[in-house]
Amino acid sequence: MIYFDQAASSFPKPKGVGKAMLHALNEIGANPGRGSHQSARNAASIIQETRERASRLFGCTDPKKALFYSNATTALNQAIKGFPWSRGDHIIATSFEHNSIRRPLEYIRKQKGITITYLQWNGDTEKFIIDLEDAVTSKTKLIAMTHASNVTGTILPIEKVSKVARRNSIKTLLDGSQTAGHIPINMVRQDIDMLVFPGHKGLLGPQGTGMLLVEGDIELEPIHHGGTGAYSELIGQPEQWPEKYESGTLNTPGIAGLNAALTLLEGRSMENVPRETLLAKQLLKGLKSIPGIVCYGPQEHESRMPIVAFNINDIPSQEIAMVLDTHYNIAVRAGLHCSPLGHETLNTTEQGAVRASIGMYNTEEEVNFFIKAIQEIVSAYEDL
Ligand SMILES: Cc1ncc(COP(=O)(O)O)c(C=O)c1O
Repeated sequence: MIYFDQAASSFPKPKGVGKAMLHALNEIGANPGRGSHQSARNAASIIQETRERASRLFGCTDPKKALFYSNATTALNQAIKGFPWSRGDHIIATSFEHNSIRRPLEYIRKQKGITITYLQWNGDTEKFIIDLEDAVTSKTKLIAMTHASNVTGTILPIEKVSKVARRNSIKTLLDGSQTAGHIPINMVRQDIDMLVFPGHKGLLGPQGTGMLLVEGDIELEPIHHGGTGAYSELIGQPEQWPEKYESGTLNTPGIAGLNAALTLLEGRSMENVPRETLLAKQLLKGLKSIPGIVCYGPQEHESRMPIVAFNINDIPSQEIAMVLDTHYNIAVRAGLHCSPLGHETLNTTEQGAVRASIGMYNTEEEVNFFIKAIQEIVSAYEDL
């Protein structure tokens, strides 16, 4: 199988990830922070080590503010629903937002009387920043933005956005779901107040993991309440981080796998243009040379994520994905990719788009095979 659905979940994982998970499952087993015996202490030390490693990698100065969740969505829910809102506050987001940001935003719009502006991206950073400045009001409290579109691979200018945010005393929430593990992110250097990422995409960790990292003083209201191991005598939720935000037993095997993945990332030098992005550019170039193909997002000479979205004439994207799967054993994603606003902008709401997303273990041969498969599909449809 050729796996080009890395933006949904990366595959395969480095060997060390599964090994660390099995070790946690078979050799440790105990509940972290829920006992003082050796096994519970071993489990707790995996959790602590992972908090520290994630904080180091993403520039979060206090590991206690590196929180574990089961995916990016739950972490985004905590950041958005838990933000200290007052009725009438305003949020700025973008037309690229995944439903993991958009739906919690729409929920608090209704529940808390918040207003939202979704900024359009038209490929021009200067215009985007002017639009952002124009959208800011005295009520704007948060800019919640994806770092990169999961449909087109477009990278948004976080440093420039953070500058506007800082000047206007607005907090920033960055959804690093498509960038963490591919391009460097540093909360201090890039002035990011809250960062969310899943463990299971570019970081090459297991499903069931995600994190919210908080830099500086933001008193979030916890969205879950319950057992925290420590502070059992309290009736209400403890005030201490991370316990305040982590009710219930953590996913120790998953976090052990994430720790192994982060350890590998720590040892990897983050190249200027990652290998997977070079492969994506090669794929984009090949697809663009085929008549009848429309590609979306940045061109191959521009900076981008290893995601290539395209359509063949007006053929439904799901149909192409099915042909790739059944005839060529190639896994891609089609449809709207949980980002309906992005598709409105691209004018592809009806057709969706075929999305080929590439990871560090994919090869040049796979890219060439893919291009050849698309050429064959285009010819076959012409003959119909
Ligand atoms: C930009 C973006 N944000 C959030 C998510 C949600 O991630 P998860 O499924 O880990 O909750 C995704 C997943 O595709 C994504 O691409």
